[in-house]
Amino acid sequence: MRYLIELSGESATLAIAESLAVAHSSRDTPGYESDGRALVLNSDISSEELVSRLALAWSVSQHLFSCDIGELDSMIGGLELPGETFRVRTSRLGEQHPPGNGTALARHVGEILSARYKVDLEKPDVEIRILMSERIHVGMLNGEIDRSSLEARKPENRPFKHPISLHPKLARTLVNLTGIRPNQTIFDPFCGTGGIILEAGIMGCRVLGGDMDARMVAGTMQNLEHFGIEGDIRQADVSIWPESHEPVDAIATDPPYGRSASTAKEPIESLYARAFGACHWMLKDGGKLAIALPGEKHITLAKDFELEGMYPVRVHKSLTRYFCVFSKLPAPKVAGVCCQGWKFTIISCMPDLSKPDDFDLI
Ligand SMILES: C[S@@+](CC[C@H](N)C(=O)[O-])C[C@H]1O[C@@H](n2cnc3c(N)ncnc32)[C@H](O)[C@@H]1O
Repeated sequence: MRYLIELSGESATLAIAESLAVAHSSRDTPGYESDGRALVLNSDISSEELVSRLALAWSVSQHLFSCDIGELDSMIGGLELPGETFRVRTSRLGEQHPPGNGTALARHVGEILSARYKVDLEKPDVEIRILMSERIHVGMLNGEIDRSSLEARKPENRPFKHPISLHPKLARTLVNLTGIRPNQTIFDPFCGTGGIILEAGIMGCRVLGGDMDARMVAGTMQNLEHFGIEGDIRQADVSIWPESHEPVDAIATDPPYGRSASTAKEPIESLYARAFGACHWMLKDGGKLAIALPGEKHITLAKDFELEGMYPVRVHKSLTRYFCVFSKLPAPKVAGVCCQGWKFTIISCMPDLSKPDDFDLI
């Protein structure tokens, strides 16, 4: 199916990345086109799943055609609609293009179609959606994203509240960036108040979460219960997990940034290095890690991961969040033995051959 998605305005690149990840599609797929906040893509996913999962979008339609304004009348004149009644809605996405206003365009298109179909503004068989950007994109509406339910789950509307929480639309975006499907398991090792796993649970994923702070663990459980979601939530330092749990399908997380959320005084570079190590162990081969980082420089700490995309979102003048998607690289096959005095350690990573003096035996 070829879809026409009306993206919301928070961050165009992040919104496109979210839609592509949910649709399991890519920029290289034939039919892909992005024009400001209008996105056309091919996917085998059902329209119901797209509509129920996307966070950074307004609507999903079946794409009919895209054209320049001068070609619109003849394209509309040739449309065959599956039904007898219709209505037309327009959204102007571009600032300057095309000229004219949306209401006038909807009326004009309605007049052309009414030669063959009946107008029904209340309950039409078909709603024609026209997105006005650099070009004109026309689709038949599949559904609108339920933005009000995202608002209803905002941190202040949950029983356990804390200012460190992400807005549900960003929490949901992180989950979606991993490409996880319903019934797969997703893990958040820094779950805080549970915002990320709550969104994943609502999307039908199995959820696993941890936090070193017992108050956060109790609060997450309270929040999940409030929304009828079951999850496996434990009080645990991020490094403990590989010893106690099977690998998971995906990881989505929002670690402390060294500001308001506690790190128990650990420098964030050290915490992130431990976290990336633990996430590598915890992810199944081919699994994805979506993580919000407070700076580009932290990306280099992600050893044995490949960076697939990075999407900066400004929060305020001293904080930009970098939404990053990493895929797990296979564990290195070479093992080494490190010997210092009488202490032997088996290491499962490639020895750093640039420092051979560190090793008595390689
Ligand atoms: C930014 S908050 C997560 C917010 C969460 N996304 C939400 O929506 O509420 C980061 C969390 O990491 C936890 N944390 C800090 N250091 C940790 C560690 N070493 N292991 C596990 N959790 C840790 C903190 O207690 C805090 O709750």
